[in-house]
Amino acid sequence: MTTATEELYQPPKVFLEQSNISNWMRQRGITGYDQLLERARNYEWYWAEMAKELAWFKPWDKTLEWKLPFSKWFVGAQFNIVHNALDRHMKTSTKNKVAYIWESEPGEVERWTYEQLWRETNRMANALKRLGVAKGDRVTIYLPMIPQLPIAMLACAKIGAVHSVVFSGFSSLALKDRIIDAESKVVITANATFRRGKAVALKANTDAAMTECPSVKNVIVVRRTQDAVTMQPGRDLWWDEAAKKESDQCDTVALDSEAILFTLYTSGTTGKPKGIVHVHGGYAVGTAATLKYVFDIKDKDIFWCAADIGWITGHSYIVYAPLMLGATSIMYEGAPDWPEPDRWWKILEREKVTILYTSPTAIRMHMKYGQQWAAKHNLSSLRLLGSVGEPINPEAWRWYYEHIGGNRCPIMDTWWQTETGCFLVSPLPITPLKPGSATKPLPGIDVDVVDSSGKPAPIGEGGFAVLKNPWPSMLRTIYKDPERYKQNYWSRWPGLYLTGDAAMKDEDGYIWFRGRADEVLNVAGHRLGTAEVESALVAHPAVAEAACIGVPHEVKGDVPKVYITLKIGQQPSEALVEELKKWVSTQIGPIARPEAIEFRDKLPKTRSGKIMRRLLKAQALGKEVGDISTLED
Ligand code: PRX
Repeated sequence: MTTATEELYQPPKVFLEQSNISNWMRQRGITGYDQLLERARNYEWYWAEMAKELAWFKPWDKTLEWKLPFSKWFVGAQFNIVHNALDRHMKTSTKNKVAYIWESEPGEVERWTYEQLWRETNRMANALKRLGVAKGDRVTIYLPMIPQLPIAMLACAKIGAVHSVVFSGFSSLALKDRIIDAESKVVITANATFRRGKAVALKANTDAAMTECPSVKNVIVVRRTQDAVTMQPGRDLWWDEAAKKESDQCDTVALDSEAILFTLYTSGTTGKPKGIVHVHGGYAVGTAATLKYVFDIKDKDIFWCAADIGWITGHSYIVYAPLMLGATSIMYEGAPDWPEPDRWWKILEREKVTILYTSPTAIRMHMKYGQQWAAKHNLSSLRLLGSVGEPINPEAWRWYYEHIGGNRCPIMDTWWQTETGCFLVSPLPITPLKPGSATKPLPGIDVDVVDSSGKPAPIGEGGFAVLKNPWPSMLRTIYKDPERYKQNYWSRWPGLYLTGDAAMKDEDGYIWFRGRADEVLNVAGHRLGTAEVESALVAHPAVAEAACIGVPHEVKGDVPKVYITLKIGQQPSEALVEELKKWVSTQIGPIARPEAIEFRDKLPKTRSGKIMRRLLKAQALGKEVGDISTLED
């Protein structure tokens, strides 16, 4: 275990003197990191200060209304995130600045200025209005990493509609469930996309989902490839044809700051994904503030958040926060190692990227390919690095620091969740770093590690990470299910938000996240419920019961392994293993594909009939089994 005294990386002088956070502190007479955290214990004051950096149509009457577990922030204010992300830049020099440098997998490059982005957003907003989409209506967006994805999101938000983005790697079944839950009026997709040189048929997936989605009146299709698709007359329309008809001017609707901006589905401990609800005002404040002060975004930066917009990281740090700050971002459509392992480093060198934000899985993949790929390129434009999605092992941290950051770029290991909207535990560029620790809660955030009774766990001992205060970009509820929201996050210990993560706090107050403590896996930085995999499997005609566990994987963190009992008359075989792997992949998406499948005559169960995954996991990892007194047999 790395402790306080062992490995500490002090912040470079330039960040102590010139970072955004240092300037902010100087203006308020705050003299150091510890004092900053102390002052921000008055979190309502701190977040109100952050909120003042954005543009409000009408200011708030009250910063926070907290009726545990339901919060409202910036109460009484009128706001729209798109006014901040686009409109207000039309009056400044940001208008002509590049918002996105987009590179396709085959290699085309497009540069979208803020003005171009704003005009196309206006056209699409008008097109949605023409289709009858109004304030509060839901639109499902199933698009790959192309400029139309942020444009579609912004167009919805501009008119007060709620977007629900579904990751383009999800199957038609996963898409269908999410459309049904959201009761979307419109779906926006593309005819196809490229992944590792192959076309992926998004429109065909959408059509397959559409057979059971009566709420959907129209499907808008981006012409991404030359692939022909069937267009259903009256329902389907091409994006380019629809946009061409519309004016490039469209008013932004002034909304209550608590109006829903989007829902994003994420895995929990049941088979049914939860629609996490985020709202305009608080989400804007949390994401803009964290990007500005953690990643120290300045006017000249070229920022690359190498995530997919289909996940929360892309929503917050490719779309909304960078646009609100008027930053230039890279958006890359394809796989990081396509056609060769140095694809990223080529882009980084050519565009002189200054800040790179990625996941431990990606870093470990590059480590495996070897440092020679990055070494071929000049990466000296980089000044800051980031990591997200899973605990970063110190070895990967050091490799990233040395071979990508040239031993000069601090690494911001940002811990957060779909539910939190923005980083909550993360260094600032003035924080001394310990490889493998996300360091301390950000200003205004109170995190603790507790034992199973909800009391603070002793220093250096493992426990559960909990949050003790509300924060502006917290989820407001689970879509259409406030009871599940209460139950899921707030019922274990009174007044504490359950993150679901195991963690440890060291003697310096640094938090070390250890991974999920519940039945959720983290596959390559993406959440996957064991229950989702199991319910997909039991839907197969040969399967009687299934138990899914996560086993460690060198690159991806966790991967699913499943244990199966077959129905009477079914025989285990290699062919069935392959069939079941493929089955899960089509039911959920390729990230859920089990790494291994084992057939058993029986699964270990408690006397109350619950499958003991803990036991299977201990066996799989060759560990002590622990207390099995509740085992039935
Ligand atoms: O287990 C934590 C892990 O990812 C979970 C949240 O997953 P998701 O909602 O998909 O959002 C991922 C991107 C924010 C957390 O409960 N996690 C995320 N960041 C870190 C992390 N674990 C350790 N260190 C991190 N920096």
